Amino acid sequence: MVATQPCAIVVLAAGAGTRMKSKTPKTLHSIGGRPLVGHALHAADGLDPVHIVAVVGHQRELVSPAIDAISAELTHEVIQAVQPEQQGTGDAVACGIAAIPEFKGTVIVTNADVPLLRPQTLQDLAASHVEAGNAVTVLSMRQEDPTGYGRIIRTADGQVEAIVEHKDASPQQLLVDEVNSGVFAFDAAVLRHALKELNSDNAQGELYITDVLEIARKEGHKVGAYTAKDPAELAGVNDRAQLASAGRELNRRVVHSAMLAGATIIDPESTWIDVTVTIASDVTIYPGTQLLGTTSIAEDAEVGPDSTLTNMQVGSGAKVVRTHGFDSVIGTNANVGPFTYIRPHTLLGEGAKLGGFVESKNAQIGRGSKVPHLTYIGDATVGEESNIGASSVFVNYDGVNKHHTNIGSHVRTGSDTMFIAPVNVGDGAYSGAGTVIKDDVPAGALVVSGGKQRNIEGWVQKKRPGTPAAEAAARAQENIE
Ligand code: UD1
Ligand code: MG
Repeated sequence: MVATQPCAIVVLAAGAGTRMKSKTPKTLHSIGGRPLVGHALHAADGLDPVHIVAVVGHQRELVSPAIDAISAELTHEVIQAVQPEQQGTGDAVACGIAAIPEFKGTVIVTNADVPLLRPQTLQDLAASHVEAGNAVTVLSMRQEDPTGYGRIIRTADGQVEAIVEHKDASPQQLLVDEVNSGVFAFDAAVLRHALKELNSDNAQGELYITDVLEIARKEGHKVGAYTAKDPAELAGVNDRAQLASAGRELNRRVVHSAMLAGATIIDPESTWIDVTVTIASDVTIYPGTQLLGTTSIAEDAEVGPDSTLTNMQVGSGAKVVRTHGFDSVIGTNANVGPFTYIRPHTLLGEGAKLGGFVESKNAQIGRGSKVPHLTYIGDATVGEESNIGASSVFVNYDGVNKHHTNIGSHVRTGSDTMFIAPVNVGDGAYSGAGTVIKDDVPAGALVVSGGKQRNIEGWVQKKRPGTPAAEAAARAQENIE
């Protein structure tokens, strides 16, 4: 059932969040790669409302720009309303709806610190509110341990009468296990009127949004509760332990939906996937893997074990083993790892390879080219089907500036080649082992740089007499003679 009334949604994000014990505002702590307030605003967006209002206050110099950034990701613009002093949730809502004075219809109020709330639940609340003809509907939930929550007080015949805060509740009321989730649907006109009637005559000396319910009821409006099917969705984050458990629950959901979409995830518990990651079908993820940011994994790719990929694009059929990578592209059927460090702007072509103990940065490596062992490749372009020998270094930094190396196609460089940039190596060229390439190498040339090898016979026995090396040398000579 879809709500037949226009909706506006007010997200409260002005509170201090002192229990986080953090210099970062609570709502900017992240789970699943998105700040808490981002989760709340994405859920709000899913409701397709006429307006989204975020109420900011505490540390708004940090919170406001973050909300602007999230607003840019959404289909609806987020209006920000400032609550100058945190005088309670009632005051916060009053500040929020002051930003949309013309609005008529249903106002949904939700909190920035409830990151697991699904848009569907907000839709169900709005629909049940309209269907019941209520002026106020509280989203309630049952809690085995209701400590700290506002209790839903009902009459003998089950009508919702009031919400009483934990700190204001009588011993009898404290036994109630149906509690206020902090999420409501209000008729805009009734809400505007009732907010004027609030007072701070309570244990916390604050203006409580929860009091609107009783005020509306006494004025003859219909009030009610809609009980959430899954109370886990309404878990609030107030401290770091709750942040971690909400993060785990969110991850469980993301990993689960990746599996339902056709990915094989060997160990869901040790696999962490941000909400912004995309994973195609027939992908395999091995244990201990984190896929973060805007990472995307194409069909038939295999990632892990023990890999962390941030903003990485992994092509179909690629294999990425024990790799730490950022902001880069791994081509179709490419091979990476184990123990590979991929830094920003690496573009690994189709079927190309970055092997063990290789570090790359700002490097375009063409189709079928290989950098198999123990190499640093930075600020470089490599053509197709070339092979870079083990233990090579692209010497890109002269202490002041970075320089570029160009390697052609079908090039084969020997082990321990140093490319002193800026330098160009033509198509089909070869280098000998241990070559230091300072000047351009023409296509098809073999480049060698060391002088002729010289053996100084008997040097060890003469200069290092009595050492194990000298003794070993003597024994070897005896065997020959
Ligand atoms: C509130 C409810 C309680 C409910 C609980 C659910 C009230 C009076 N109580 O209590 O019934 O069970 O949530 O979690 O509403 N905020 C502002 N400005 C303020 C005060 C708060 O924006 O001046 C924001 C906070 O940032 C937070 C939300 O409102 O997002 C809730 O405030 P909080 O102080 O956490 O209320 P609770 O005591 O948890
Ligand atoms: Mg709270």
